[in-house]
Amino acid sequence: MDKANLPQPVVERRKRQTKIPQILAALCALAVLPILLHEYLFSLTTPRDIPVHAESALARCRALEDIPPAYNYRHRTESDRFDAEGAPTTLIINARILTGGENMTEVIQGDILLQNGLIKGIGQFSGAIDALKAEYGLDELVVVDANSSWVTPGIVDMHSHLGDFSSPTLNGAVDDNSHAGITLPWMRSVDGINTHDDSYVLSVSGGVTTSLILPGSGDAIGGQAFPIKLRKTKEKTTQSMLLEPPYDLNSSYTHAGEPLRWRYMKHACGENPANWYSGTRMDTAWAFRTIYNKAKQIKVQQDEYCEKVLNGRWVNEKFPEELQYEAIVDVLRGKVKVNAHCYEAVDLNMLIRLSHEFEFPIAAVHHAHEAFLVPDLLKSAYHAPPAVALFATNARYKREAYRGSEFAPRILAEHGLKVVMKSDHPVTNSRYLLYEAQQAYYYGLPANLALASVTTTPATVMGMDHRVGFIREGFDADLVIWDSHPLALGATPKQVFIDGQVQIVNPHVHTKPEVYQELPKVPSFDQEAKDAVKYDGLPPLKPPTTKDDEEFVMFTNVKSVYTGDATNGIQATFSSEEMGSVLVWNGAVVCMPHQLSCFTDMQYKSPKFVDLKGGSIAPGLTTFGSPLGLEEIQQEPSTSDGFVDDPLVGGVSPILGGADAMVAAVDGLQFATRDALLAYRAGVTSAIVAPLHKRFYGGLGTFFSTGSLHKLQRGAVIQDKTGVHISVRHFGKGPSVSTQISALRKLLLGGDKKGDAGRVFEDVVKGNRPLVVEAHSADIIATLVELKREVERESGNSMKLTITGAAEAHLLAKELGEAGVGVVVSPARPFPYVWEDRRILPGPPLTEESAITTLIKANVTVAIGIEENWSARNTRFDVAWASIESGGWMTRSQALAIASTNLHTLLGATHASAQYDLVAIEGGDLLDLESKVVGVMSSRRGVTHLF
Ligand SMILES: *[C@@H]1O[C@H](CO)[C@@H](O)[C@H](O)[C@H]1NC(C)=O
Ligand SMILES: *[C@@H]1O[C@H](CO)[C@@H](O)[C@H](O)[C@H]1NC(C)=O
Ligand SMILES: *[C@@H]1O[C@H](CO)[C@@H](O)[C@H](O)[C@H]1NC(C)=O
Ligand SMILES: *[C@@H]1O[C@H](CO)[C@@H](O)[C@H](O)[C@H]1NC(C)=O
Ligand SMILES: *[C@@H]1O[C@H](CO)[C@@H](O)[C@H](O)[C@H]1NC(C)=O
Repeated sequence: MDKANLPQPVVERRKRQTKIPQILAALCALAVLPILLHEYLFSLTTPRDIPVHAESALARCRALEDIPPAYNYRHRTESDRFDAEGAPTTLIINARILTGGENMTEVIQGDILLQNGLIKGIGQFSGAIDALKAEYGLDELVVVDANSSWVTPGIVDMHSHLGDFSSPTLNGAVDDNSHAGITLPWMRSVDGINTHDDSYVLSVSGGVTTSLILPGSGDAIGGQAFPIKLRKTKEKTTQSMLLEPPYDLNSSYTHAGEPLRWRYMKHACGENPANWYSGTRMDTAWAFRTIYNKAKQIKVQQDEYCEKVLNGRWVNEKFPEELQYEAIVDVLRGKVKVNAHCYEAVDLNMLIRLSHEFEFPIAAVHHAHEAFLVPDLLKSAYHAPPAVALFATNARYKREAYRGSEFAPRILAEHGLKVVMKSDHPVTNSRYLLYEAQQAYYYGLPANLALASVTTTPATVMGMDHRVGFIREGFDADLVIWDSHPLALGATPKQVFIDGQVQIVNPHVHTKPEVYQELPKVPSFDQEAKDAVKYDGLPPLKPPTTKDDEEFVMFTNVKSVYTGDATNGIQATFSSEEMGSVLVWNGAVVCMPHQLSCFTDMQYKSPKFVDLKGGSIAPGLTTFGSPLGLEEIQQEPSTSDGFVDDPLVGGVSPILGGADAMVAAVDGLQFATRDALLAYRAGVTSAIVAPLHKRFYGGLGTFFSTGSLHKLQRGAVIQDKTGVHISVRHFGKGPSVSTQISALRKLLLGGDKKGDAGRVFEDVVKGNRPLVVEAHSADIIATLVELKREVERESGNSMKLTITGAAEAHLLAKELGEAGVGVVVSPARPFPYVWEDRRILPGPPLTEESAITTLIKANVTVAIGIEENWSARNTRFDVAWASIESGGWMTRSQALAIASTNLHTLLGATHASAQYDLVAIEGGDLLDLESKVVGVMSSRRGVTHLF
């Protein structure tokens, strides 16, 4: 509808019309009699004047087709979010500014002036500070010397549940999914955004300044979403955190005449709404069509109404609308950015069909693990292709995520689709959203698009690119000063500004080597990316069969070699800028670089040559903490070993020995799961897994090779039984902590040691087998230390105790060191998921030390584990993070040990005949973002696998 051409309605008193002809007509058409009669009666009792609501109705009608304009805030002098107390005029000097301009390639060396919550200027001001003060009439100007650091726009997270799924998780603060129905466009996340989430401070310390807070994905339409800034406000309210909320936030309907602002709405397809409502994909689709049809009917009524009144034909009805549906009618009018959680081709297809049937645009599809397989489908969406908001490597946790690929971001970008990296906080910790972009870059997304994927692109997709996502004059003063190039692994803010306010009170920053200031050069994964598409997201991952001609492999241009064994830990065996070669036969190293005569002796062999291009050879890493090896898809019980029975919770079958049962994970091992094979290809050549258990009682762990195809292959099981695993946690409904401790005491000191469990715990008491206890709370850990002392007093032996999880262990670092208790910190970078792990030591920039360095410095043997079931493949980057966060204090060997030798010691995986598998890395060492794992050598298994 083109408003300009409409005749102006006449807003003046009109003559009362006679109803006689209508009555006559009605006599001829009895069917419409009741309506006309009503009209007639109405006309007798109500003066047919211009209705009192005429003006508002006209305004409503005139604004019907408006969408939020492309605001130009360049000439703002003060931010609507400006708080004079917290945001003094500040000059950041000597910055390397990635402005976001020129497709995120523009870099300006210079200064940034922040005033009134805005970026006032970018340029060279540092020579003229007095002049600046005079120009702006300032007594004081805060000057921050960035010392040539990189500065980027604040990070924008387009998919977060910060505040509506608060951390630590407590029943009282889970407000992201309503149970009121499957389509709830009237729900609003703003009504559930808790101001006390522990994550605000943590996420800001990772550089996140703006987040779009979406309702959950349990409902097909979960409700409206709201963008917030993450800083504390002096009002301490949810509303004061909102970024440009719609003006009608606190009234029922739009007030026409006020400038329009974008609205946001969550949609979800696939497994979540189907499960939440015990329905199917078909039910979800019908629920969408039902509500969109209703919205369309209202929209048509409005359009018809407006057509009349804008033409001066007044009708007595008010503007047709219903509060429940006003937001979804706005979707049909293009005033709402729809963000749809949709994974699979089938779901994306349904969503896009819906967009055509009801003619509404979709701003972004989220998760969208199969989007990379159907780029043309996305391009065919109504109005414009949606952006795609993804995780970097988090996949395979459920069926609809099974085909997810780390190459999706680059493939989608190659198709010209907008790529956004998102956290889904707290599903992944948004503090590390930039790490998602780093991984996307590692797997082939161009650097500029990777940086844009967490700044300019989400800001643009959200329609907020007039004020956030860029460092530009007139934009909000939201920016981050980084301690390295933002795409270098471990990049950490030195300082974060939101609305011109400093966010990190006392930042702890390590000075990093100069090389971290450069953009890392990442390896090529072109073939892998092609295969991901060719095989519909399931490229073959099995290690290649060793060919005869690969019996001898010569790795050349090797810069460093690390070796390791259980007794001596990890050692740097060779390191030279001159490079060397390593000769391998059937998985065993025959010649090391310095053994020159060895190579001469071997000259008659004709090896296969592999150029490592300045790379490295290092022991393979070990993963622990996830069900790797016991399940394929986390949310599909039919792919899992299942959970062991817990004698503390219910009866255990007598056939198992009742309460004396002791299950061993080795009996349930599954080989060649995709998570295991991906881990293998990323240098994680072995895993330790405990029997899956939901509560207290676990069983015996097992140590196996992630690259083996089945249990009967040579060397597939490295050590069948390792330590015994127990969890002591605040289970809520489960047995109390005191009950669990009592039970554990009984198991250790109970006297009768006859059954399976008895024998295993007798081993523990004798110090022959470690007791591995998952515990997070410092109070529980302290109790366990006491129990260890008690056992040792009674038995006279020294007992091996290892704590895993251990979020709060740093509070007892000294005591753990003295008691000889080891710790497997998992996850390696802490997060206050639940009450019992809320007292984390967050590490730089919030604290000088990380939990890992604190424990190591107290003489605790430390290893790292994972919690996320898909993340074994990222172990080398987890190790690298730990090492980087230590500020260079940990050596390379110490770092490698936390995911290998230390882990073996702590979990009782030491009597293995295990010579370690070795990993060949091209272009750098195992902990580098610049390198790529290209082979594994296993003398134990007699194989050399070249990928
Ligand atoms: C932005 O950069 C990407 C990757 O470097 C490139 O493919 C794309 O064409 C660029 N877009 C524009 C508008 O220049
Ligand atoms: C720049 O260096 C100085 C001196 O080392 C230091 O005090 C300051 O904190 C640094 N600035 C930033 C933003 O790191
Ligand atoms: C209504 O909400 C807006 C924010 O959009 C706020 O500025 C205004 O003060 C609110 N009005 C009242 C009466 O609360
Ligand atoms: C990992 O998988 C197990 C078993 O399927 C599940 O119980 C657990 O919640 C998963 N862990 C995470 C962090 O998702
Ligand atoms: C750690 O052990 C070393 C060597 O045994 C000892 O010198 C040091 O004092 C110990 N440190 C702590 C914090 O106990």
